[in-house]
Amino acid sequence: MKIAILPGDGIGTEIVAQAVNVLGALDLRFEMETALVGGAAYEAHGHPLPESTLKLAMSADAVLFGAVGDWKYDKLDRPLRPEQAILGLRKHMGLFANFRPAICYEQLVGASSLKPELISGLDILIIRELTGDIYFGQPRGRRIATDGHFPGAEEAFDTMRYSKPEIERIAHVAFQAARKRNRKVTSVDKANVLETFQFWKDVVTEVHAQYPDVELEHMYVDNAAMQLVRAPKKFDVVVTGNMFGDILSDEASMLTGSIGMLPSASLNSKNQGLYEPSHGSAPDIAGKGIANPLATILSAAMMLRFSLNQEEAAQRIEAAVQRVLVQGLRTADIHSAGTTLVSTAEMGQAVVAAL
Ligand code: IPM
Ligand code: MG
Repeated sequence: MKIAILPGDGIGTEIVAQAVNVLGALDLRFEMETALVGGAAYEAHGHPLPESTLKLAMSADAVLFGAVGDWKYDKLDRPLRPEQAILGLRKHMGLFANFRPAICYEQLVGASSLKPELISGLDILIIRELTGDIYFGQPRGRRIATDGHFPGAEEAFDTMRYSKPEIERIAHVAFQAARKRNRKVTSVDKANVLETFQFWKDVVTEVHAQYPDVELEHMYVDNAAMQLVRAPKKFDVVVTGNMFGDILSDEASMLTGSIGMLPSASLNSKNQGLYEPSHGSAPDIAGKGIANPLATILSAAMMLRFSLNQEEAAQRIEAAVQRVLVQGLRTADIHSAGTTLVSTAEMGQAVVAAL
């Protein structure tokens, strides 16, 4: 089992170090190789996704990824910005299926900004299409407008597009995931306005014919954003495009108490995967040793489950995380009166001890 370790920038290095310790505490043998990515790789090699890093990632069974980005790179040309590393990995590895489970642990019900009764027992799964949509659609760029409201003015444009096979394969992923859960899929679109998402809705409906045992509901994205904070437990599996999924998954993270708790898995058709916390590099708290490593540790559990076929080890890690929460240990993002404030490293050590 070969794992590429790509810590990246900001808190990425701190949280990935803890996840690596947790993996090391299992009675399993891994080949782990670390490489630079994002701003760190730009500093060292002049590119956020150097050829050697991409090669390592492609040759591994799984990639454990931290986070990339820092405001200091915002002025670089877009192809050199840290975010291009994660977008490049998704594209080159074909990681079209992104799983972002939002589970509210009983001990963290009070850490959410929502009323406890709304989120207690919450367990939803957001499946975000990850290699298409306006994120990757061509053409894009800047030009002088020849039509529109201001012909002759400077303008910028991106292209929202989805092909039928792209929608079909993510719809299959969603229906199959729902079969292992509560058999309900909510497909989120903007079919009332966008051609792309009318097509999305039509194709998802067509694929649904193969899954009569799964309930399918369609919801406009603006309504979905509202329902997520109004009655989140009504969802089971949510499937949506790249752009809407980016936004809704951040929103959903707050239902769990903190984005510091939200793991993710991004898979291609060969079950090769990239595993990363759903949060970013948080440059404002980097180097302080206060970031929550649990999203990354839980991402490592997803890696064991989906790419390395080690279900038992995955469950052991998840149980260990549950245990440290029961013990009352909290990093700053989930800390509240009556619990014990711990550092990034202390949280990691506690998970290792619980294992
Ligand atoms: C995410 C992030 C990325 C995205 C950024 C860092 C490019 O926000 O994984 O959700 O927009 O997909
Ligand atoms: Mg995002």
